[in-house]
Amino acid sequence: GQLTAGVAHELNNPLTVLIGVTEMLDEKVPESLREHVGLLKDAVEAARHVVRGLLTFGRKMPLERRRVDLGDLLDRVLALTSSELRITDIVIEKEVESGLPAVWADGNQLQQVLTNLIANAKQAMAEVDGQRRLRISMRRAGANRVRILIADTGPGIPPAIIASVFDPFMTTKPEGTGLGLSISYGIIREHGGQLSVESPPGRGATFAIELPIETPAADAARA
Ligand SMILES: Nc1ncnc2c1ncn2[C@@H]1O[C@H](COP(=O)(O)OP(=O)(O)OP(=O)(O)O)[C@@H](O)[C@H]1O
Ligand SMILES: [Mg+2]
Repeated sequence: GQLTAGVAHELNNPLTVLIGVTEMLDEKVPESLREHVGLLKDAVEAARHVVRGLLTFGRKMPLERRRVDLGDLLDRVLALTSSELRITDIVIEKEVESGLPAVWADGNQLQQVLTNLIANAKQAMAEVDGQRRLRISMRRAGANRVRILIADTGPGIPPAIIASVFDPFMTTKPEGTGLGLSISYGIIREHGGQLSVESPPGRGATFAIELPIETPAADAARA
């Protein structure tokens, strides 16, 4: 399910490192160790195959909806990511509207979405010098929706690829799977929301998540 895809997505990064190191070893080790490196290479390749399969097919899991306080969720995500963001000199600005209503959502899956978007922002900002700022705001949007904006000061998304960033396997990164955004898009859609992006030239990228403020009753009526 979605969890499988999430785990597989997380496994992909260390795996990419393993692949790189194995290739390097392959070139450098003396003849006597070649065979061992060959075995290592096969094993790493097999693991990569499994991860890719999981990423492709293990993508949907029913939502386990509960009452989710988005401000608390954001605090949890930032607790897990902020030290890494600080290392790369990224200033975090967060703004959560007071009295923001809770959403009826799968907190773990929403956490995964925020984590993916923050990881992308961080990776994008690694490419620029000067000020790096990650701005996350959560506000009410109309009577029955909330809008979460995640804006970075990275290089932005080139117009040529912006229409396909949510497609599976669309990546511009040597070590990317191109699945972070497509998984996130699917999760938000399943919540009855929308994930979109804007990237005016020279202004970084801003991802917007809109979620319905839903009551358990409304959810049950729809199911
Ligand atoms: N904040 C951003 N700024 C600029 N480009 C972005 C941003 N977020 C996404 N992109 C572009 O969209 C592509 C797809 O993103 P996605 O998260 O789906 O995959 P990925 O980040 O490349 O790989 P993975 O998520 O597996 O690490 C990225 O490769 C990048 O080109
Ligand atoms: Mg990503």
